[in-house]
Amino acid sequence: MLNWDEFHEDDTATAEVPEPKKAPEPTPAPAAEATDEVRESAGNYQAADQDRMARARKSLEELDVAAGLEELEMGAARIEVDDKKMINARADLNQLVPFKYEWAWQKYLDGSANHWMPQEVNMNADIALWKSNDGLTADERRIVERSLGYFSTADSLVANNLVLALYRLITNPECRQYLLRQAFEEAIHTHAYQYCVESLGMDEGEVFNMYREVPSVAAKSAWSLKHTQSLARPNFQTGTVETDQELLRNLIAFYCVTEGIFFYCGFSQILSMGRRNKMTGVAEQFQYILRDESMHLNFGVDMINQIKIENPNLWTPEFQDEVTQMILEGTELEISYARDTMPRGVLGMNAAIMEEYLHFICNRRLAQIGLKEQFPGAQNPFPWMSEIIDLRKEKNFFETRVTEYQVGGALSWD
Ligand SMILES: [Fe+2]
Ligand SMILES: [Fe+2]
Repeated sequence: MLNWDEFHEDDTATAEVPEPKKAPEPTPAPAAEATDEVRESAGNYQAADQDRMARARKSLEELDVAAGLEELEMGAARIEVDDKKMINARADLNQLVPFKYEWAWQKYLDGSANHWMPQEVNMNADIALWKSNDGLTADERRIVERSLGYFSTADSLVANNLVLALYRLITNPECRQYLLRQAFEEAIHTHAYQYCVESLGMDEGEVFNMYREVPSVAAKSAWSLKHTQSLARPNFQTGTVETDQELLRNLIAFYCVTEGIFFYCGFSQILSMGRRNKMTGVAEQFQYILRDESMHLNFGVDMINQIKIENPNLWTPEFQDEVTQMILEGTELEISYARDTMPRGVLGMNAAIMEEYLHFICNRRLAQIGLKEQFPGAQNPFPWMSEIIDLRKEKNFFETRVTEYQVGGALSWD
């Protein structure tokens, strides 16, 4: 855990009663001898290669200060809020303020306030349980293996989509600021899964290749990858109805389906395990990840809805049909994954209960982007999942004594 006490021993004393500001003391003139010493030693060397130095200076003389900045117009009027747009904006993207989308900036602040690192979670009980012969049933072990198998690569798919496909097409600086924060969180998630795999001594090759070798895992990954391909082409540009819709497909595939549906069977299985006091370290990692993911999902929904508001011509009845179909496809894939990971009842759940949960989740995703629910009446059989997602401060959920998140890197332990 980080400890700042050694660096700011007097902070508590001075934080509440700040000292009145004093005018700065005039800087004394340096002694004459010291100046002379500096003068004597300064400049007592020369560049190793005078030609190279001359070339560097010449190149700077010829520098066009506008050429390196995308669509920057020297001497143009300053940015106004109304110049800003989610996609296809022509405003300078290097200026964060003035904010247009306060929700994006607020999510960046909230995400940053939830910072955590995988090594801060105690994995000792999990290691003992995983290595004992009778600690977990075969069905429970299957769930842990499948979950780590899917998630260990899924978060890399999400991160790659953000950085290699999406980032350059979202033309708003405050949204980009959140995307950068999200990209780092995805790196932490991949780290967390790797940390679990390493702690438990699992076969890394088997786990990290599951997304290519186990059909129910591979189908989900392939579906996500399919929606990143066109945007990742270097010459892909938005600006027409077709390409703007392609960008929306990508957002829906990643935020609503991959992060909004594909994570939910595995998360609820592992968290159910944690609630039964099994694999509490893995469950704690998943708990933190789920909270991050629910914010990613909400951010994605806000982006999608904002793009719809600014570009109503994209949201045609045909396109709405297509998007509904995409969300149904994602739901079906997750139900197949549930059947594969739960051939029998386990942890107080089974594939049929999970199916209703996923139908409930599917309804939520459709409603969040203004589409009609496809499973009217589906109920949430796991209300405790909503409780975990909504927790602002931890309260001994898995008896792991985590009390609250802090900015600055560390979880606080009693
Ligand atoms: Fe993630
Ligand atoms: Fe995410």
